[in-house]
Amino acid sequence: MSFPWAAQYTPTNPFMKWMDDRLPLPRLVFNSVGAGYPVPRNLNYFWNFGVLSGLALVIQIVTGIVLAMHYAANSEIAFASVEHIMRDVNSGWLMRYLHANGASFFFIVVYIHIFRGLYYGSYKAPREMVWLLGLVIFLLMMATGFMGYVLPWGQMSFWGAQVITGLFAAIPVVGETIQQWLLGGFAPDNAALNRFFSLHYLLPFVIAGVIILHIWALHLPGSSNPTGIDVKGPQDTIPFHPYYTAKDGFGAGVFLILLAIMVFFAPNFLGHADNYIEANPLSTPAHIVPEWYFWPFYAILRAFTVDILFMPAKLLGVLAMFASILLLFFLPWLDKSPVRSGKFRPQFKIWFWVLVADVAVLGYCGGAPAEEPYVMISQLASMYYFAHFLIILPLISRTERPLPLPNSITEAVLGKDHDAAQPAAAE
Ligand code: HEM
Repeated sequence: MSFPWAAQYTPTNPFMKWMDDRLPLPRLVFNSVGAGYPVPRNLNYFWNFGVLSGLALVIQIVTGIVLAMHYAANSEIAFASVEHIMRDVNSGWLMRYLHANGASFFFIVVYIHIFRGLYYGSYKAPREMVWLLGLVIFLLMMATGFMGYVLPWGQMSFWGAQVITGLFAAIPVVGETIQQWLLGGFAPDNAALNRFFSLHYLLPFVIAGVIILHIWALHLPGSSNPTGIDVKGPQDTIPFHPYYTAKDGFGAGVFLILLAIMVFFAPNFLGHADNYIEANPLSTPAHIVPEWYFWPFYAILRAFTVDILFMPAKLLGVLAMFASILLLFFLPWLDKSPVRSGKFRPQFKIWFWVLVADVAVLGYCGGAPAEEPYVMISQLASMYYFAHFLIILPLISRTERPLPLPNSITEAVLGKDHDAAQPAAAE
């Protein structure tokens, strides 16, 4: 939304005026991330994670393009081409470690971004579309991450591709045909590697396109804030630039330092040693595990161990795994509480932290071998996951008594006496 008190763009020199009349890009920047975009004055550091997700995507695209200059998408030499990048290409090791660890960092910041949204009720009206587009981005990220992991053509690449495409084989009647169609053969081989590479290169740009829609949808109502109450006037907002460019800049600095620590001191900590062994269709690894960011979903997939009626356990697992994400598309309508922020919802807050613990437990079990006690814990944790969204949230959103809300964002920041304070640096 353009708040009526938003600063107006006025070109500062004749060239900018000329440009503004023909292609008003500087105006777009000014109104989107500049002084012309008023933002609630009380955003905390959790509001950094959207921009950090964007930064992570840029790092992935830049390092990925350089890697693609030296990588060979051919099952005969893919593994060797990655070793060539690591040993022979100038700074190739740096590009690869930035890309591999960058993927993990991308998921870390996006997970924090999602849980921020869950806690502060950012998915509620009028930002449902922002949430839905975010979920589309998340699905695209998962597809991209999965296909990227296949490219080095190590043992986990090969067997991961085999297991994940094998999930489709669980679909009755047409399953195996679909798996063969996805792979372009009966098992992962050159055809699969080539199409995964092609799509792995394409999807980040599709993600970038959906991010533009995500931000567009966000800028209509404007950002929410930790209190969840609406902006009531200029005193509640500050211009994005310089206030949040500075705050996001600080967050970006911390993000880059942490990424550098991983890349330079523990580059393989988040990876799996088996992926340094070339793919071998005749030797199955003892435990096939996906990358850590898929573990919670992998745990839900493996939670089904017995057939129910005519449904085989594998199919049930696949359905549950997809349902665990699709469910989130309905969240804005499952949680009917008129209060957005978890800060003012005493019961919601408790259950939110139970959910966080539950997803952590699922993650742990997903990375562990498929044996007891992990299977049973996965089953209980999966049950809680679904119960949280389908039973607990709808129930407490009707019964809970929220805490009293402040009258305005300014009151929440400065206390009651300051509600009529000076407009906070509104330009
Ligand atoms: C590449 C991935 C993503 C990027 C670059 C991105 C970017 C952003 C940015 C820049 C913002 C504004 C700043 C902020 O509130 O942090 C934002 C807000 C938001 N994002 Fe994302 N996002 C991504 C993924 C997601 C996902 C996966 C979801 C949810 C499933 C999501 C849901 C939201 C919501 C609900 C808001 C509004 C927050 C509020 O105003 O309270 N985003 N996003």
